[in-house]
Amino acid sequence: MPGKKSRDDLLKERIHIPGRKTYEEVFDKRTLMELYNLMKDGVIDILDFPISTGKEAKVFKGEQKDGTPVAVKIMRINTAVFRKYRRYIEGDYRFKDVPRGVKMIYSWTRKEFSNLRVMHKNGVRVPEPISFSKNILVMEYLDHRDFPAPMLKDVDIDQEDMEYVCKNILDYMEILYKEVNMVHGDLSEFNILISKSYPYLIDVSQSVFMDHPEAIDLLGRDIKNIVRYFGSNNVDITEEEVMEKIGMDKELMEM
Ligand SMILES: Nc1ncnc2c1ncn2[C@@H]1O[C@H](COP(=O)(O)OP(=O)(O)O)[C@@H](O)[C@H]1O
Ligand SMILES: [Mg+2]
Repeated sequence: MPGKKSRDDLLKERIHIPGRKTYEEVFDKRTLMELYNLMKDGVIDILDFPISTGKEAKVFKGEQKDGTPVAVKIMRINTAVFRKYRRYIEGDYRFKDVPRGVKMIYSWTRKEFSNLRVMHKNGVRVPEPISFSKNILVMEYLDHRDFPAPMLKDVDIDQEDMEYVCKNILDYMEILYKEVNMVHGDLSEFNILISKSYPYLIDVSQSVFMDHPEAIDLLGRDIKNIVRYFGSNNVDITEEEVMEKIGMDKELMEM
């Protein structure tokens, strides 16, 4: 019958061919091969345990040959999830021709590595980047008393410590804006880890330089998030105070 699908076609739609189709898990064939390469090259020796499994990435605690602990962030090869991030790479002078498909995820990984490096170099506390390859990023492992460092949202700290964390975060925002000329872009209590008595910024793949067309909007959102979170933890700051602290022209925000 015209237009009617044959049984063969229907089956084809349901049967996924291993090695070609991307499944939900991170360890698709390409990722396994890449992990193998990183192990062969000595960048990673073992993967101990998963720390987090998100929609876009899985993060593992690993170790290097000499026993140095590392965090291994593996971006999922799922172009549907990453498509929405395309705009953060477009408009970034470091990525002139943004590739499509799986290569775009590789660019995304490289971007997070490069962002970590520039932030780290300028004294913003972030995990020190160690290496990257394809969709895998290897960085300093942040811990807290033999456990992976907790997110700010999960720590139970007193008023004085909360003020201290807030002050540090504002300092990082100031360095980022004034010296690095960059905005984190996804700043919140979910992307701040507490380790060795300091807050660290993580998850910087979407961070962009201030010449990016969406930079001001992202900065506005970061400021709102920070004011909201610390406000709800009895550290009252206003958006105006944050803008003044980081040296941002208020009119920029109103444009
Ligand atoms: N360098 C690190 N050291 C320890 N834990 C980390 C590190 N980087 C990420 N994590 C853990 O993995 C989680 C997810 O990482 P993140 O970069 O925020 O990815 P996403 O939010 O995109 O899944 C974090 O909330 C944190 O618990
Ligand atoms: Mg995150």
